[in-house]
Amino acid sequence: MSIRKYKISVIGAGNVGATAAHICAMKDLGDVILVDIAEGIPQGKGLDIYESMPVEAGASRVIGTNSYDLTKDSDVVIITAGIPRKPGMSRDDLLRTNAGIVKSVTEQVAKYSPNAHIIIVSNPLDAMCMVAKRASGFPAERVMGMAGVLDTARYRTFLSQEIGVHPDDIHALLLGGHGDTMVPLPSYTTVQGIPITEFISKEKLTQIVDRAKNGGIEIVNFLKTGSAYYAPAASSVEMAKAILRDEKKVRPVCAYLSGQYGFKDVYLGVPVILGAKGVEKILEVPLTADEKALLLKSKEAVDSLIKAL
Ligand code: LAC
Repeated sequence: MSIRKYKISVIGAGNVGATAAHICAMKDLGDVILVDIAEGIPQGKGLDIYESMPVEAGASRVIGTNSYDLTKDSDVVIITAGIPRKPGMSRDDLLRTNAGIVKSVTEQVAKYSPNAHIIIVSNPLDAMCMVAKRASGFPAERVMGMAGVLDTARYRTFLSQEIGVHPDDIHALLLGGHGDTMVPLPSYTTVQGIPITEFISKEKLTQIVDRAKNGGIEIVNFLKTGSAYYAPAASSVEMAKAILRDEKKVRPVCAYLSGQYGFKDVYLGVPVILGAKGVEKILEVPLTADEKALLLKSKEAVDSLIKAL
């Protein structure tokens, strides 16, 4: 019996895309196709990653290209194409430019890989998921966005640093859009099941939540020329892996809501089960009145971006 090798395509060979391709290859998830319109960039970066495989004892073939032919029959496609933020810009400032890019990229992806799962990384994330869903015509469970994994990764990093425990021991959930309207859920934050409030004060927790909310801009302000890429890339690959290996991982994912949490026809960060079918189930957790109000605000912010398209 032959074991089929998976194919992951990464669209956009900028910092996020190239890093995602590298992590996919390092984790031996399958063959990786790196696509970009810039001539030579995906070819050069792809070959460079491929040449690290003998050293890493990996079996992934990594190929960079300017066309979509080689992406044919991809299992997962990570879309990172678009422009990143510069200091002073919000994610929403990228709306028009990136909507055009994500639309045309998704049309190509859907044409060559009608059965793929699409993971969107381009910003403004929640609105770009809607663009991709419309452009692909794919069922909602196969079009999702990476943001919650990144936002909770930032939150877990700061908590782990503050408390002095292994970051993996911090379990956390966040809801809502990727950005200022993100909804933290301290009641669902634990250290191996022990409520986080046993470890830090309410004030400290609020500070850490704020830092996580502004985690993207903190990096933009350091880099000046672009936005974060190591943690965003790692987060998108974690989602790809959960799908390819049917891991049934519970993660906050930007998913299409069709009535969950009382919202319809909108993309928003919610906890889901990620497995071979993509977003296999959206988990509806009980929320306090305050959390519900924040989630509504977040939903309205995403709605207004989608309307502006
Ligand atoms: C960030 C960008 C990638 O949060 O949205 O860093």
